[in-house]
Amino acid sequence: MHPQTVHTIDQLREVIAAVRRAGKTVGLVPTMGALHEGHLSLIRASKAECDCTVVSIFVNPSQFAAGEDLEKYPRTLASDLDALAGCNVDMVFVPAEEDVYGPQHATWVEIGSVAEPLEGKRRPGHFRGVATVVLKLLNMVTPDVAYFGQKDYQQLLVIRRMVEDLDVPVAIHACPTVREPDGLAISSRHAYLSPAGRQRALVLWKSLQLAAELVEQGQRRADVIIERMQEVILSAEDAEIDYIALVDPETLEPIEKITTRTLAALAVKIDGTRLIDNCLLG
Ligand code: PAF
Repeated sequence: MHPQTVHTIDQLREVIAAVRRAGKTVGLVPTMGALHEGHLSLIRASKAECDCTVVSIFVNPSQFAAGEDLEKYPRTLASDLDALAGCNVDMVFVPAEEDVYGPQHATWVEIGSVAEPLEGKRRPGHFRGVATVVLKLLNMVTPDVAYFGQKDYQQLLVIRRMVEDLDVPVAIHACPTVREPDGLAISSRHAYLSPAGRQRALVLWKSLQLAAELVEQGQRRADVIIERMQEVILSAEDAEIDYIALVDPETLEPIEKITTRTLAALAVKIDGTRLIDNCLLG
């Protein structure tokens, strides 16, 4: 059976109020739909920790920069509801765009330095859109815990920063990146890849694995590791590197010499589709 689907903020508040009256805790899994195993792992975490799990589905226009894939982003509500039927979630919240961003909407959340490098530099306004919609969803659902995947590592840092700085009463739980058996980090954007492109996309994971191996073997120079990662990526014929970075996992500042835990993060276009991945080294 499909879970209860709620479309308006008033309806949502009524259901959440009843859940609260029953003394239950609420977990929120915010998504843009096109649900896959990564989302399902967040749902499982919420179900294990909270009495009531709410999944929101909203393709947030404000986090897509001009020229990005807002129009073609997969919208698969019917199959998403089918997938959720098997997960026993308590509620799916599918707000309309005009309810999230009213005609007078003029308030935005700007995050400081952690939103600036990597994705922030290449996707102007992206994190302003993410932070704003996540804050709105947190205010609408008022969950005890909200769940995010580590695949969008910088997004996770941005949300943690926002929650701490704006005193939002919610715990943010991070869940590990879910990978296909061959290592490819699962993403809704894989829908854009041709079967051959899907194979070539494996170079992202291979280059991260190589970085981990090099560090394990004692290599400490970031420039050497990045060069080797580049070679792996460019072995895929149409790969276009947006960035490969070794950074501090808290501040995202570049690291030259690896002496402590380091985040390797990359964004690469394969088949014209921009893919991201990351892993912690050391
Ligand atoms: O990670 C996503 O799917 C989106 O950025 C989020 C957190 C649902 C906000 O639109």
